[in-house]
Amino acid sequence: MKKDFLWGGAVAANQYEGAWNAGHKGVSVSDVMTKGSVDQPRKITQGVIAGEDYPNHYGIDFYHHYQEDIKLMAEMGFKCFRLSIAWTRIFPNGDEEQPNQEGLAYYDRVFDECHKYGIEPVVTLSHFEMPYHLAQAYGGWRSRKMIDFFIKYATVCFKHYAAKVHYWMTFNEINNLIDTDNPFNGWTGGGVLYHEDENPEEVMYQVSHYQFVASSLAVQIAHQINPENQVGCMLHFGPIYPYSCKPQDMMASVKAMDRRFFFSDVQVRGHYPEYAKKLWQRKNYHFDITPADLNNLQNGCIDYIGFSYYKSTTAQAAGPEEFVEKPNPNLKKSDWGWAIDPIGLRYILNVVYERYHLPLFIVENGFGAYDKVENGEINDQYRIDYLRDHVVEMMKAIELDGVDVMGYTPWSAIDLISASTGEVEKRYGFIYVDQEQVNQGKSGRMKKASFYWYQKVIASNGACLRESGGEKDEKISE
Ligand code: BG6
Repeated sequence: MKKDFLWGGAVAANQYEGAWNAGHKGVSVSDVMTKGSVDQPRKITQGVIAGEDYPNHYGIDFYHHYQEDIKLMAEMGFKCFRLSIAWTRIFPNGDEEQPNQEGLAYYDRVFDECHKYGIEPVVTLSHFEMPYHLAQAYGGWRSRKMIDFFIKYATVCFKHYAAKVHYWMTFNEINNLIDTDNPFNGWTGGGVLYHEDENPEEVMYQVSHYQFVASSLAVQIAHQINPENQVGCMLHFGPIYPYSCKPQDMMASVKAMDRRFFFSDVQVRGHYPEYAKKLWQRKNYHFDITPADLNNLQNGCIDYIGFSYYKSTTAQAAGPEEFVEKPNPNLKKSDWGWAIDPIGLRYILNVVYERYHLPLFIVENGFGAYDKVENGEINDQYRIDYLRDHVVEMMKAIELDGVDVMGYTPWSAIDLISASTGEVEKRYGFIYVDQEQVNQGKSGRMKKASFYWYQKVIASNGACLRESGGEKDEKISE
């Protein structure tokens, strides 16, 4: 393991900051999403409706607890902290001329606090969050105008935080857009809700094109402002294995993975892949793509690949060019039905590195679970097991396969609101947060067993997982 390996943890502004209307922050697309649960989908409402429960409004109130929380992260030994800037704190509506100084000052304080402990901020510009006004007034990323709004926002951030932030990512899990069946993806990813009289897939490719152009411009501007800036993409990279060893299923898996890789293919290589052009031809799709856009894609290739890894799934052929997703019968699942597959992490690290030969950054990986406080302690051994097995597989990819991994920031540094279900009960953090205590103005923070485990992993740069011996999963060997 490299000495400067970036161990840390990850969060997103809309899921942990709370203080949704403090400091002149604007309403974001996540501020109109209600609380859900494992079997109750979140609702997207028309504006903020009195009487509805919007968990992103309060998060875990990091906004007022940032000093205490960053201190705890420093105690764990974080080398970096992946967080996002809420676009709506900087441009509350998104189309203002001038940024909101209070928002800029808030992140100054947060980044200063990180640097006080030698923690490097790793910042996502848009993590499931954008101004609600832009979604309402312009149809979100359906509109080319979004490129200008985003670039203005990104430029303000690159300039203002030039001395404080060097690792950036543009759009969180940009490739979630591909799954148009789930309204959550278009909404959180692009402020877009598909209409009944349109082809969502066609709209989605246009939406992603505008985001690709915006991202490629952001890369170019970040490099002009400071050549040391590193800007990454951020993708969801759960592998989709063939359901069986039938050649049809193998092909289904390749095609299913193309849908994930389409986004990194463009952002890493700077041009559209042939398989996409063929698909658009076959389906008679037409897009607003200009020669200047194509130039920008080419000139704004990203520097590293950030990605999340939680679970894997499988694809089964279901007719010509069609497949269905099937659960993998060989894997256990979390209470939310997410398959647990540590080897899948080593697998995807190998596949992605072979495909692109760029440094990889695992910016999310974690286990959502119901935690219990017993006698003032939280023994989350299940989370330790999950993370240990994944870190071991990551170390195999680095040490046995030669994959270049820059860092590892598990989800999440601290408990926060789940993106898909909008509940805090699906906990991921090393630090437990008791919402009731927070509401009473208290800290409400408690260290879980995983906090101490991760502290040891970081302090030993992963070596403690090698030395523990005995249990096969803990050895970095074949
Ligand atoms: C990733 C997102 O998809 O997964 C995070 O980038 C999210 O924002 C995480 O929280 C875990 O998903 P969930 O739905 O369990 O919160």
